[in-house]
Parts: sequence; C-alpha cells; structure tokens
Amino acid sequence: MADTTKTATLTIDGQSYELPVHTPTAGPDVIDIRKLYAQTGAFTYDPGFTSTASTDSTITFIDGGKGELLHRGYPIDQLAAKSHYLEVCYLLLYGELPTAAQLEDFEGRVTMHTMLHEQMMNFFRGFRRDAHPMAIMVGVVGAMSAFYHDSTDISDPWQREVASIRLIAKMPTIAAMAYKYHIGQPFVYPRNNLDYASNFLNMCFSVPAEDYNVSPVLARAMDRIFTLHADHEQNASTSTVRLASSSGANPFACIAAGIACLWGPAHGGANQACLEMLREIGTVDRIPEFIARAKDKDDPFRLMGFGHRVYKNFDPRATVMKESADEVLELLGVENNPTLQVAKELEKAALADPYFAEKKLFPNVDFYSGIILEAMGFPTSMFTPIFALSRTVGWISQWKEQLSDPQLKIGRPRQLYLGETARDYIDIENR
Ligand code: CMC
Repeated sequence: MADTTKTATLTIDGQSYELPVHTPTAGPDVIDIRKLYAQTGAFTYDPGFTSTASTDSTITFIDGGKGELLHRGYPIDQLAAKSHYLEVCYLLLYGELPTAAQLEDFEGRVTMHTMLHEQMMNFFRGFRRDAHPMAIMVGVVGAMSAFYHDSTDISDPWQREVASIRLIAKMPTIAAMAYKYHIGQPFVYPRNNLDYASNFLNMCFSVPAEDYNVSPVLARAMDRIFTLHADHEQNASTSTVRLASSSGANPFACIAAGIACLWGPAHGGANQACLEMLREIGTVDRIPEFIARAKDKDDPFRLMGFGHRVYKNFDPRATVMKESADEVLELLGVENNPTLQVAKELEKAALADPYFAEKKLFPNVDFYSGIILEAMGFPTSMFTPIFALSRTVGWISQWKEQLSDPQLKIGRPRQLYLGETARDYIDIENR
C-alpha cells in the first residue's frame, strides 16, 4: 500500500472523521474509505466509478491529462517502437523486461501451448455459422474450464501460471478458428515455427488449397496492434475480470466474463462501430452532418473512436495507430483509401470544433485500428476479437496481481436504495 501521511476530514451531522489519504507513486491522492461504513454508518455513492479506485496496482499507469500510458513504468510509444508483443506480455506478467534467456524461455512456453484440445473443434461446430466471433469466443473461452481441469485451482501458483500461459497461447488460435468457422473455411492449426503475430495471420488467412506467405511488415503491424491493446489499467472489462475473480471463479470463467464486457460498443466494440460509422459517412462532404448529430443532445449518435473516460488529451495509442495506418496502407498500395481520408478529415473537423475541445474529446485507440485491420483483410466482426486476444495478457496480469493480494475480499458494492420500504403482501384478489 502507498505512503499514508496525509488525512482528510469528513464531517457528517457535525461529527468529524479522519480518513487516511494514500499518496501513490504517480496519479492523484486516494482517500481510503474502507472503514467509513463501520465508523459512520454511511456509504459513498459513485456510479460508473468516476472517482473511485477499486484496487491498488503496480502494472499500468495512465495520466489522462498528459496523454501518457506506462506499463510497469515504460511508455507505450517506446514499447510500440522498440519492443514486441510477447516481450510486453512478459513485462506485464512478471514486472520487468526479460533478459534474452528469460524471453526465449517464455516464448518457448507460450509456443508449446498454442494448440487446442481436439474435442474443442466439436464445440466450435455447435455454433451457427453466422454467429459473431465474439459470441463464439465468450463461449469457447468459458468452456476451457471444462477442458483444462489441471489449471483451474487458483490456490496453486503453478496452476495459475499454466492457466496464464495457456490463455495467452490459445487465444489467437480461438479467435482465428472463430473467424474460419464464421466464413465457412477449414480450421488452420497453429504453426510453432512462426512468431505470435505471423502465426495468427497464418491461421486466419491461409487455406489448404494454396500457399500463404506472411508479410513481415503486416506481421509487425499486427504485433503492434496487439501491443497497443495489451493492458489499460482498471477499465470496464478488467474490472469485470477482477470482480468475477474475487469470488474465487476459475481463470477461464473470469476471462470469458472480461470478453463479454469488452464486446460493448462503449468499450472494445467501438473499433467495429467506428469503421461502420466511417463507412456510413462515406464521403468527406457528409462529415458536417455527422458532427452535428454527435453534438445533438436529442440524437443518441456519438462519434465512435472519440472520447475516453481517462484521456482528456490525445490517447497515445491513437497516435501510434495513425502512423501505423499510413505505413500499412502505403505497403498495401491503398494510400488513397476513402475510409482513411474520411477518418483524417473527421478527426480534423472534430478537433477544430468547440464542442469536442470543451469536452476534451480526442481520438482513441479505436479510431484508426479498424482501418488497418480492414486493409489487412479482416472483416469488421473480427476487430473486437483481435482486441480481446490482445487484452488477454492485461486481464491475466491483473488477475494474478489480485490473487496474490493477502487482503483479497469478494467485490460487493453497496447501493443507494430508492425503492419502496417494507410493506405487507396484498392477496391477488385485493390488488
Ligand atoms: N461523441 C459525442 N459526444 C461525446 C462522445 C462522443 N464520442 N463521448 C463523450 N461525449 C460527450 C457526452 O455526450 C457527454 O456530454 P455532456 O457532458 O454534455 O452530457 C460528455 O462528452 C462526457 O461523456 P460521458 O459519456 O459522460 O463520458 P464517459 O467517460 O462516461 O464515456 C466513453 C467515455 C469512451 C464511453 C465515451 O467517450 C464514448 O461513448 N465514446 C465513443 C465510444 C468509444 O470510442 N469507445 C472506445 C473507448 S477506447 C477503447 C477502450 O478502452 O475500450
């Protein structure tokens, strides 16, 4: 726990209470209200957790005002430029950058777990062909607890480690198989001679009928997308994983819960929604109409890929993603991609508009990611599964951190009850 030298004074009905204030290594001070109810008989009220720290953590830090994202202290732009996804996974999981030997060992362990239990193929085949790949992922990842009984005992550190490696290793296989099933092509098994990103591209795009050579530039872009999504502190899906885990649920059930939460359009589903919006706008001349709709209080439409609970400045991931979009589209010879043109002009128009400036709404990670993924050949329905596979390491790292906390308690929020008080049951004939 952080240093506690300050206190805050709370006065209720003339009675004062001293509350400890924790000073973190970075970020705002945190008033500790854990004993508040016992001391005062009052709860705090914060729907949406806009002012509440749900945990302490040493993994990821965001300074929303500066537009800074750090994993274990390392800035995301440095990791995106100099590192790669599996190294970032190691960093998130174990706290430090690996030595060459540690990285080799870690990559070897992940690689040895890429295959799925063969019986799981039948499980995929139970879904309708038109099922959204996220629906398949929620089901298949939850079902892993029925296939890997030897890594569900959360009290055993070894089983926790094996479950972590299994999830990171198998998630690309599951996402790729969900895609292949969805489009009616045969499943492609993992190839352990390929790196993590190349293996995923191969499982998605190769077919038995012809050779498929993974472009190293596309593999690098894929790896960067994984890296940019790897963790993001206590967001909705991570908090869902932590809440599910607080009851002692097994890791596969917890990660399935995280995937379900990520699916929503306000969270990971925004990348699909954003590309669909850019397509709907279609041409640059229609941008003012959509900006006006986003500003209209009576219209539920929002600019997808814009705004963030924590970032009140540029999302640093969006900056890297925009550069990546330019590189990938140039490589693929589609620099004049109309969707990219609309995105760039929409970004300019929104940033110049007082509504977005006043509310501090900037492009987030999802604004440009869909354009890259579409150019790579992914349908929009695969965008959120790719976010889910990338975020798995973040969920797992936070889950491991939570389980190692000796003070772990089941998550049990309280409420501000505004319903009826106790009243007598009325027999049906008297209602
Ligand atoms: N377009 C238009 N207005 C917006 C937008 C937007 N994209 N985002 C927020 N606002 C307005 C909102 O109407 C509200 O206005 P007012 O104060 O007048 O009522 C104000 O800005 C604050 O919005 P909020 O909904 O109270 O803020 P929040 O922190 O609860 O929501 C958000 C954050 C990300 C859900 C929201 O900005 C949003 O819906 N964005 C679009 C969806 C999106 O791109 N999500 C991906 C987030 S990044 C990936 C991830 O981490 O999952």
